[in-house]
Amino acid sequence: MVDTLRKVGIAGTGHYVPERIVPNKWFEDTLDTTDEWIFDRTGMRERRFAEKGQPCSDLCIKAGKKALDDAGMKPEELQLIIVATVTPDHLLPATIAFVQDGLGAINAGGWDVNNACTGWLSALMSAQGMIAAGIIDNAMVIGAEVLSSMMNFKDRGSAILFGDGAGATILKADHPRGQILCSSSGMDGRQWKAISRQAGGSKQPVTHEDLETGDHLMALHGNDVFKFAVAKFRDLIREQVATLGIGLDDIGLIVPHQVNLRIIQSALKKLDFDMDRIFVNLQKYSNTSAASIPIAFDEARAEGRVKEGELISFIAFGAGLGWGQAVIRW
Ligand code: UT7
Repeated sequence: MVDTLRKVGIAGTGHYVPERIVPNKWFEDTLDTTDEWIFDRTGMRERRFAEKGQPCSDLCIKAGKKALDDAGMKPEELQLIIVATVTPDHLLPATIAFVQDGLGAINAGGWDVNNACTGWLSALMSAQGMIAAGIIDNAMVIGAEVLSSMMNFKDRGSAILFGDGAGATILKADHPRGQILCSSSGMDGRQWKAISRQAGGSKQPVTHEDLETGDHLMALHGNDVFKFAVAKFRDLIREQVATLGIGLDDIGLIVPHQVNLRIIQSALKKLDFDMDRIFVNLQKYSNTSAASIPIAFDEARAEGRVKEGELISFIAFGAGLGWGQAVIRW
């Protein structure tokens, strides 16, 4: 432990998406939907699906290796790995077990975080706190999902929204670049039914009946989440500006959870924030839950959208209903 808190920066990023591209049209064969409806209502054009039997840990390992390369680190240097996912390889043990082994991160401990679309930010905050306090010097934070394994392909209101992928981020003590300036999280558990997967846990172990009704798959009240997300998006940006004592113009880029283009646009309309300063890649990957921000951030860097010295805002919300935010300086 240290007496004063240390600064925590981002030393590396990487992402991986499965090769299989699933365009909107693919759903037209089995659902009462169209490519046009999906694109108009969400901005999504396609998503990636993992191969059958390709587990979440496989995506994590591929993204993690790229982040290690980017940071110039060897796997054995890692002290902590946190995997944020709602689609673990197994319910027991945690997916980190397979990731730690697969990466050869023999000196790393770790655990999984189950907080859906806010998961990567939740994991980031946990690692940030431990590094700042001097408990550890570095950590890999991964957001990864194989949502295709728990989607209800009979439900047009949710099946069209999601995709698979993984994004990894490496945090280091006193790293000068990407220092985390603020972060926070919140939860309104009264709204848990808005996004849920009810069968399969301790409250409702899966029965034959659940397999018939689809209770073992994800269920969504998209309209409720839509309204919540638009309001929460604005609240979180205002919180960032107030916490840091800055103006909206001081934010160089917002990398939001890739939920739905219309949600992002609706939130920004009232904020008077320019869409040019938002990074959006949901047209390619749809909503990858915990993976969406770390994938988007890595792509934003690759495309030269993350400029040195600028403030980068991360905003997420999802099942719980929960939310989180962080601002870094690149
Ligand atoms: O990251 C957190 C998880 N993500 C979410 O929770 C998603 C948040 N919500 C959304 O993105 C949007 O609410 C949706 C894309 C899910 C739906 O868009 P919407 O503009 O809110 O549509 P709606 O739910 O108000 O439905 C409008 C109509 C309905 O028909 P009627 O009642 O007007 O006849 C739906 O049944 O569109 C119908 N509809 C569809 N039609 C064609 C719903 N899904 C589809 C579909 N294709 N896939």
